[in-house]
Amino acid sequence: MRLHGAVMGKNNHDALLYCRRLLIGLVLLSVLGACGSKVEPAPKKTSKSDEQEEVYRKYNIERGKRLVELGGCSQCHTPKIRTTLGYKPDKDRFLSGYTQDQRLPDLPYVEIMAGETEKTFYTTDATVWVGRWGVSFAANLTPDPETGIGNWTEDRFINIFREGKHFGQDGQIVSPMPLGVYSQLGFFELRSMFIYLQTVTPVPNNVPAHIPPWDELFEGRDS
Ligand code: HEC
Repeated sequence: MRLHGAVMGKNNHDALLYCRRLLIGLVLLSVLGACGSKVEPAPKKTSKSDEQEEVYRKYNIERGKRLVELGGCSQCHTPKIRTTLGYKPDKDRFLSGYTQDQRLPDLPYVEIMAGETEKTFYTTDATVWVGRWGVSFAANLTPDPETGIGNWTEDRFINIFREGKHFGQDGQIVSPMPLGVYSQLGFFELRSMFIYLQTVTPVPNNVPAHIPPWDELFEGRDS
């Protein structure tokens, strides 16, 4: 019994010693760990991440360009010039929308607004559209800060395709902007288009807002 007790005692003593060492070891480790995290420099922007950002930007520009081309945005949003072979997009006014201060085309507005004709009218350059919804003008999609989308946030652009609404107005985006098709684009595709559009040449051109069918402009106007 005594021997047994003595053995137990030694064992207990060893175990205690072991525990103490373990504890000291753990404390040391955590102190070292704490020191380590203090000394370690805060992660800062390295030139590598700048490079990665540039690669991502270039990728977005390329993809956005392709989507804008495939989406046919220029068909309506770029004024055209007349050539002997017909009309072609004016490169100097690429995506700048309906050219401001033009005279509205002569049309039977009152009848159109009253729905007496099922026809939709548009100018040869497709920047002005007239139908039961009133008169709509293709917007300036260049990054001009005053008249284009230069000051827009990405959210504002993307929401147009998600909600179909103008920013800051209750107004729905009206025909013929093909939102039904474009709303199928994913978030990252829309982001790429926005990033690309910010790189085209800015063109100052103040496109008027949509004129609703009840506008006084059409009162008594029959052509
Ligand atoms: C068939 C003609 C047509 C096509 C194609 C078209 N748009 Fe439009 N877009 C319009 C018209 C017209 C308006 C003005 C609508 C209004 O006043 O409610 C407009 C409005 C917009 C607006 C809203 C601007 C604002 O001030 O709120 C954006 C953004 C836009 N278009 C982007 C695009 C993009 C990007 C594409 C190509 C992917 C495209 N559009 C293709 C005719 C078109």
